Amino acid sequence: MFIEKNVALEPLNTFHIVAKAQTLVRIGAVNDVLAVLANPELADQPKFVLGGGSNIVITGDIKPLVLKVVITGKHLVSETDKHWIIEAGAGENWHDFVTWCVYSGYHGLENMALIPGSVGASPVQNIGAYGVELQDRFHELDAINLETGETFTLNAAQCAFGYRDSVFKHVAARAGDFGLSGKALITHVRFALPKDWKPVLGYADIEKKMLEIGLEPANYLPEPLQIYEWICSIRSAKLPDPNVIGNAGSFFKNPTVSAEQCADIIQREPKIVHYHLDDGTVKLAAGWLIDACGWKGKSVGNAAVYEKQALVIVNRGQATGGQVMTLAKAIQTSVYERFGIRLEPEPVVV
Ligand code: EPU
Repeated sequence: MFIEKNVALEPLNTFHIVAKAQTLVRIGAVNDVLAVLANPELADQPKFVLGGGSNIVITGDIKPLVLKVVITGKHLVSETDKHWIIEAGAGENWHDFVTWCVYSGYHGLENMALIPGSVGASPVQNIGAYGVELQDRFHELDAINLETGETFTLNAAQCAFGYRDSVFKHVAARAGDFGLSGKALITHVRFALPKDWKPVLGYADIEKKMLEIGLEPANYLPEPLQIYEWICSIRSAKLPDPNVIGNAGSFFKNPTVSAEQCADIIQREPKIVHYHLDDGTVKLAAGWLIDACGWKGKSVGNAAVYEKQALVIVNRGQATGGQVMTLAKAIQTSVYERFGIRLEPEPVVV
């Protein structure tokens, strides 16, 4: 185990916010966690698990011990009648993993291509895009308890997935309570990818793409690789590449309201973009709400609302986490004042 001091975090977070980790240890295997827990200087320190750094806003130097997950490897572990079970190390880059699966003949993740971040972070916020969520393809994960060093395996029900939510985002007030935030480090994730693959279509952006290239959405059955390429092209056109412009993807979750609340808002705002969900609630497009309040292109210091997609906050230079959060709060206030809706940020603020 190598203990690093005063490590620059700018390359380790996709917002590219300048900050330092006072102490950082790279975790390449379970044994590295055990070595941390056996080390008298590190064992009792508060710990912060860092994956791909694509869903965090860093507001200052990080004082807790940073455990940077770099566990690699991806392979077929088993198969059932219906599924390929594919395992990946938590430190694998998510998009590289999706690409590998598509080209290896394991399909089902292509709608989630180009989502920034790591495999280990994917279940934490149950990532999703274009009609597929991680929970739809999840089998189980291995993790290690950061207090006891015990390893354990969780299935989908135990992960308690919700919209951009899981047990890993909840803090347990007492031992034994629901919530694993800060308590566990995910080491491996296993996916169940369908042998009887069917494309997940029906999203307006995908249909638009098909029409653009002369395909009739109702009569054409695309191959997995085609969907993968369309998704990459759709995302690249409207979302900023974090390697070029720092950002953390969607900054706010799409809020849900009751059908009554929605009917009330529609009376005042007939153009509001909304989707009826199976449980009777209605999801509103946060990007539309922010756009309607005139935020595209507006900034606080070097933190700005992306011109092509109001749901994304970007780093235009040396933005600080404080500037990002000041901008985020101003957006929340204006959306609340106009629509009476509270937007909830997606990234974790540290
Ligand atoms: N819209 C506007 N103005 C904007 C942005 C959006 O009017 O500035 C409208 C769009 O025209 C559209 C609606 O709002 O009618 C929804 O926008 P979009 O289709 O771009 O999807 P989204 O709801 O903004 C969600 C996910 C994305 C995911 C896409 C595609 C969340 C918070 N975001 O975005 O996930 O890629 O759907 O499935 O659920 C991420 O989480 O980082 C992410 C990018």
